[in-house]
Amino acid sequence: MDAFVIQGGTRLRGEVTISGAKNAALPIMAACLLTQQECLIRNVPDLADVRHLSSLLENLGAKVWRDKQKTLHIQVQDESHCLADYETVRRMRASICVLGPMLARRHRAEVSMPGGCAIGDRPINLHLRGLAALGAKLDLEGGNILADGSCLEGTEIFLGGPFGSTVLGTANVMSAAVLAKGKTIIEYAACEPEIVDLGNFLNAMGAKISGHGTPRITIKGVESLGAADYTVIPDRIEAGTFLIAGAITNGELILKNCRTEHLMALLDCLHKIGVDVDRQDGTIRVSSARRLNPVDITTQPYPGFPTDLQAQCMTLLCLADGNSMITEKIFPDRFMHTAELGRMGAQLRKEGPTVLVQGVRELIGAPVMASDLRASAALVLAGMVAKGETTVLRVYHIDRGYEHIEEKLQRVGAKITRVDQPQV
Ligand code: EPU
Repeated sequence: MDAFVIQGGTRLRGEVTISGAKNAALPIMAACLLTQQECLIRNVPDLADVRHLSSLLENLGAKVWRDKQKTLHIQVQDESHCLADYETVRRMRASICVLGPMLARRHRAEVSMPGGCAIGDRPINLHLRGLAALGAKLDLEGGNILADGSCLEGTEIFLGGPFGSTVLGTANVMSAAVLAKGKTIIEYAACEPEIVDLGNFLNAMGAKISGHGTPRITIKGVESLGAADYTVIPDRIEAGTFLIAGAITNGELILKNCRTEHLMALLDCLHKIGVDVDRQDGTIRVSSARRLNPVDITTQPYPGFPTDLQAQCMTLLCLADGNSMITEKIFPDRFMHTAELGRMGAQLRKEGPTVLVQGVRELIGAPVMASDLRASAALVLAGMVAKGETTVLRVYHIDRGYEHIEEKLQRVGAKITRVDQPQV
């Protein structure tokens, strides 16, 4: 197992190129199960989650390979396998996004029911309700969902839940409906850019989807789908994390390959905090030399403030000049990082889904434990600004979602090294 050793206190300066979006690439890769023709997916980040889904697709009969231009080639050769087992889904929850495509194309699927994870309960009841509304027969046996989709038919589906819309639920229902008979309307669909990207990819394969990016998506079923050559959008969460890295180190970073329109909630928040952000077609320059103002943040579905940047923003606000309040409205228990930040001197008080952040003058380096992907990023940010040395343990979490993060950070001046995890 690897760890990062970070010497805090360097200002980051230079250029960072943002990679393709993990959360767009994963459902798009799964959607390749909808055809036997070869699909080319460009700008796919080289990440543990992408490798994991690639091997699941291989188990499901696809040939998957990556060329030197970061393009994934996916072609289904054998459609007889239908099982995504417990071991696979346990290692990566996003494996659930093969369910919709398998039902649509193979008319059956057996996918292990995902359990909870470090960021909360994460049920999939809305995925199942949406697929059932399309006519899928669903049973639970031995912890696996046994799904039969031999007569999927378009219908109107309301996909909202107690925490709003569902991203992968929308992806699953949309991917199943593309080959269903007739018209499907998804009401309260997720509006995230990753859903727009999936819709665009499916349309490039020959689907007839409109309204993606709004809460009402309309899908006219087609007989079959074919090859597509598609480029995945830049990763807004990676871009956001680097914006915060620039801000927290009082640095000056230029981010290339960004879609600034996907980052409006964060940019607005950084503006209020007092961070200078300058945007110009696909490039963002962030600089910060001033004191940081406290702000209140509430995470919400897109275009609201993303839950996937909550932990990183908390680290930034730990150093603000006053008190901030962070409320988690998507995953109310996604606060595993607070105790670790506390070990570095942060003053945080959790009350239900809200954390009161009392700004401190400095954070102090310490050994800390990463608990999930974004919490790890928050601890790396803390390490870069803390006094002395920080060791972030269990960085396999960060490797799931940030492409070559320590190399990107080293290139802009961070003192971060990957080591074999010490025994602590
Ligand atoms: N929910 C339900 N029922 C469902 C599905 C979701 O109640 O059937 C609830 C969830 O418990 C949560 C809320 O609805 O309270 C939103 O969950 P959503 O389904 O949108 O999450 P997801 O699709 O499983 C994706 C991302 C997450 C990201 C969330 C929210 C991928 C692979 N994962 O998860 O990304 O936090 O949307 O934006 O796209 C990450 O990248 O670190 C990550 C966790």
